[in-house]
Amino acid sequence: MPENLARKTLRRRDFLKSSAALTATTAISTFGAPAIIQAQSLMNPVNYGFIGSGRQGCNHLKHLSTIKTGRCAVISDIYPPNLKKGVETVGGNPETIPDKDPFAYRKLLERKDIEAVFIVAPYHLHVPMILDALSAGKHVFVEKCLMKTEDQIPKVYEAVKAHPNLVLQVGLQRRYSTVYRIAIQMVHNGVLGKVQTIRAQWHRNGSWKIPVPDPSLERFLNWRVYKEYSGGLMAELGSHQVDVADWAFQSEPVAVSGVGGLDYWKDGRDIFDNVAVIFEYPQGQKFIFTSICNNAHLDFSEVIMGDEGTIEITLGNNSGRAMYFHENKPADAPTNKVKSADTKEQNWWAGATAANRGAREGIPISPEVPKQNPGFIAKEIEYAKKWLISMGVLEMDRERDPLTVEEESFFECVRNGKKPVANIDIGAADSRAVIYANRAMELKQKVFWPNQPSIPLESQISRKL
Ligand SMILES: NC(=O)c1ccc[n+]([C@@H]2O[C@H](COP(=O)([O-])OP(=O)(O)OC[C@H]3O[C@@H](n4cnc5c(N)ncnc54)[C@H](O)[C@@H]3O)[C@@H](O)[C@H]2O)c1
Repeated sequence: MPENLARKTLRRRDFLKSSAALTATTAISTFGAPAIIQAQSLMNPVNYGFIGSGRQGCNHLKHLSTIKTGRCAVISDIYPPNLKKGVETVGGNPETIPDKDPFAYRKLLERKDIEAVFIVAPYHLHVPMILDALSAGKHVFVEKCLMKTEDQIPKVYEAVKAHPNLVLQVGLQRRYSTVYRIAIQMVHNGVLGKVQTIRAQWHRNGSWKIPVPDPSLERFLNWRVYKEYSGGLMAELGSHQVDVADWAFQSEPVAVSGVGGLDYWKDGRDIFDNVAVIFEYPQGQKFIFTSICNNAHLDFSEVIMGDEGTIEITLGNNSGRAMYFHENKPADAPTNKVKSADTKEQNWWAGATAANRGAREGIPISPEVPKQNPGFIAKEIEYAKKWLISMGVLEMDRERDPLTVEEESFFECVRNGKKPVANIDIGAADSRAVIYANRAMELKQKVFWPNQPSIPLESQISRKL
């Protein structure tokens, strides 16, 4: 965010203004569509087909089984054990396409009664399946990442343009988390001051592979660790976090450099088992990402660092959690040189002794169940939080599982012609970041974005689901 804009948005009345907008946003995200539209959608659920009922597929099907505005009519999966699991998970006795032909999913697309399709197959199949689905007239929900190669990007744009009435939504579920939306709104409103750095890590301790019943199935079942099908750690993990950085910086990067290695899991895989990359954004901001596979101590989170505050945020167990820490900006900080006309309003933090005390420990952004006998620190934090809420800096709302929210939102877009939040621009920006980061590590060279910055600003602004 340009500095003068950050200063402007720092003022208290702007917090209050943005808070009112946020309340409207979060209310919609919590309660979904207005009652009358919801009732209509319940009477006329979206009939969908499902392609790929593996691990994430079944995760979706579990959530989908609870959503009444969509109905799973048919599942296609070429691996019989997973097809069976998918049917059992979603319930409701969907039909199946018990065919091992990799193009068997096209039978599902030929059916006139299917309005929409979920594509939860491995990465390399996303674009061929999207193009087939759109040309068959189906709305598409596709898991991240959207595109695997750069030449696929214009092809998907052309297909979407050719079918303006069809929805294409990408499975970047942080965009559907209330806690993330509040956190990013705080960033955009200048609560953290000038944000120059975001750091994220996704660290695990394990091979990332599943045991295979037959060696001939190794590459099929463990597709994730082979470049032919996968974008490795950048695509599978980093894609979520670079999307958060794009969202916070309201832009896609302009350059990326990085180092990757295959140094620990030398088991025949050909993807990196450790990566460290730095993305640069148009105002010189940096997003630093690491992923390793032999130590899970740091787990996964994003830390957004401004000269007036920090937000640490994660989506562990599909539930958003975030902590806000106040930062005392040095009196001689360069950002202090831009003075607001109304210094009293701007200096909203000054009298906040409670918030200052709580800020040492961090103030939770997400609402938490009050403890029975809170200790002194917990009481202080709760007090500080209430103070920040009263100032309009924090917003209270219930976090719902973002997977459920993104699925409900998809059905609403299909039924009511709404545009998805995680749209093609966001998905393409995310894919470019993954593709260029992998290229930078492979070539051991800094990679620059061809058009800088190419993501439309509007797509990165927090807006209602
Ligand atoms: N958003 C998230 O948090 C998240 C989490 C995990 C995975 N994912 C994404 O979901 C996708 C699937 O990942 P996964 O972990 O479920 O993988 P997986 O290997 O467990 O499941 C993939 C399924 O696709 C099936 N399949 C393969 N080729 C097929 C074809 N031609 N037709 C029909 N089915 C076919 C496989 O048999 C398998 O059941 C990936 O793109 C991954 O990046 C997203």
